[in-house]
Amino acid sequence: MRIPPPSAMFLASATTILLHRRIVVVVSAFRHHVSPPLQPVLRPTSSSLRRSSSSSSSSSASASSAGRSGGRTSDIAVLFAAEVTAAAGDGGASAATKPTKPTTGGGGGRSSAAVSDGDLLAKTTVGNKPPASSSSSSSPVLDANPPKGTRDFYPPDMRLRSWLFGIWRDVASLYGFAEYDAPVLESESLYTRKAGEEVTSQLYNFVDKGGRGVALRPEMTPSLARMVMAKGGGLPMPLKWYSIPQCWRYERMTRGRRREHYQWNMDVWGVGGIEAEAELLSAMVTFFRNVGLGSDDVGIKINSRGVIAEVLSGLGVPEGKFAATCVLVDKLEKVPLDAIQNELAELGLERSTIESLTSVMSNATIESVSAVLPPGSVAMKQLSDLLDLCDAYGIRDWIVFDASVVRGLAYYTGIVFEAFDRRGILRAIAGGGRYDRLLETFGGDPTPAAGFGFGDAVIIELLRDRNVLPSFDGSGFDFVVFAMGTDMYKAAVGVASTIRAEGRSVDLILEPERKAKWVFKHASRNEARYCVIVAGDEYENGEVVVKDLSVGEQRTVRMDALGDWAKEAFKS
Ligand code: HAM
Repeated sequence: MRIPPPSAMFLASATTILLHRRIVVVVSAFRHHVSPPLQPVLRPTSSSLRRSSSSSSSSSASASSAGRSGGRTSDIAVLFAAEVTAAAGDGGASAATKPTKPTTGGGGGRSSAAVSDGDLLAKTTVGNKPPASSSSSSSPVLDANPPKGTRDFYPPDMRLRSWLFGIWRDVASLYGFAEYDAPVLESESLYTRKAGEEVTSQLYNFVDKGGRGVALRPEMTPSLARMVMAKGGGLPMPLKWYSIPQCWRYERMTRGRRREHYQWNMDVWGVGGIEAEAELLSAMVTFFRNVGLGSDDVGIKINSRGVIAEVLSGLGVPEGKFAATCVLVDKLEKVPLDAIQNELAELGLERSTIESLTSVMSNATIESVSAVLPPGSVAMKQLSDLLDLCDAYGIRDWIVFDASVVRGLAYYTGIVFEAFDRRGILRAIAGGGRYDRLLETFGGDPTPAAGFGFGDAVIIELLRDRNVLPSFDGSGFDFVVFAMGTDMYKAAVGVASTIRAEGRSVDLILEPERKAKWVFKHASRNEARYCVIVAGDEYENGEVVVKDLSVGEQRTVRMDALGDWAKEAFKS
């Protein structure tokens, strides 16, 4: 995609306004039209083990000579100057972006000749009856908004999303990670951990028609563990995998928190040492640098749950209470201390244990935490080794030790980390850690693993705030080709094909009756670089007229040199 210079301070709001306008247009068009603890044991399947606008209404009445068959292009320059200026100030929904009228009543109601179950039609239509309309019309007015907390991706939003995913993918492959995917619908049992995690209570779950409990995935890590387990130890370790799944959580909506989000996951399996965490942290920092953020914009807090484990075991608390304790301790920032203390007490922790935990977590430096831990703390050694490695990667200035960071997922066992907005305005940008026991809790073999999840929502907010998002207004095509009149259309098809054969993207105007005025406006609005005009007189001379929209210059190009010209066109 060609990204225009970053004049994009207003991009976000422009996109939003455009989006809103479109929604408004759609709604009105519709109205008008219709008036760790106990885990279930997952077993690999036997097979997996074996495998170890409508056209301009006035076109006929008011077409200028420039818009008619065989018109000369000398008229075009005049039109162009006037219309591009007009287009620049036109932020509304264009004819090209007008929503098509919705069809009412139809869609999905046909019965096929192949239907052999006589009751099928009745079965499939039960419960599908449209709600009674309050108006006299027979069709209800459709709510054009997507479900609360979810998003539509109009083309500019989609361009932004693809841009972000592209950078995620580039970073992942720079670090040697391979992409994988899994179904968005999983068995509910994959997520029903009993440690009191928020994510479990936010499940989009239901019983399917076969009576199975299923859920939309709230995160990718359990699917990844299931996939590793399904191979029954047959995957060569270590593995470095990444994915960009859409995740679903019935979440309370705040800035950067939605009910669906895309989440870049990077995971390393089969490496027990902090080398895995260091590599993951470095990949995360590379992403931040690649999108134009620095260590004064973003920091990454690190800690180790090993610290909590050591405090608990030093005080004789059984290991079985570890995961639930971590989940509660993670809520300290959001829930009053005494409420957490009560919950910890309900879990069976002594008051003195709770006080030791909260005091350790309020320590600001590795040294002060070390001082209150038993001598020779493994967790502290790992943390200081990790910091040393971060030095070697050249990312030390991004890393902040913070003993209060625990993360809310039950399965983390060691180092945990969280990328944060240095201004303290946005919620966690990304989070992850080591989860060496997850496969075991599913009934698999102990396998060390570490990784992170990085959502799309907060980072986009941050990039917007920092004014480092490029513009996504352009439609991504370089050339607009149009026929000056219907009798030139076939010639225009040939011209478009010649340019496309050189790998250049072409928006061929499919309505040859369009006026040149409209075409220039359209090209300008979509940030195309060149307009290629196939007009009668020039074409007869073996030429087309080309307008460079970036400078407003017009010239002719010989048809037999058109391919070469298109190939070179972006070099100047
Ligand atoms: P998590 O901390 O639950 O971890 O989420 C990771 C990131 O996903 C968050 O920091 C945030 O960027 C994004 N995120 C989570 N929930 C939402 C939401 N409702 N709306 C928008 N963004 C959200 C996990 O999910 C772990 N499975 C990550 C992981 C991978 N750990 C190891 N490997």
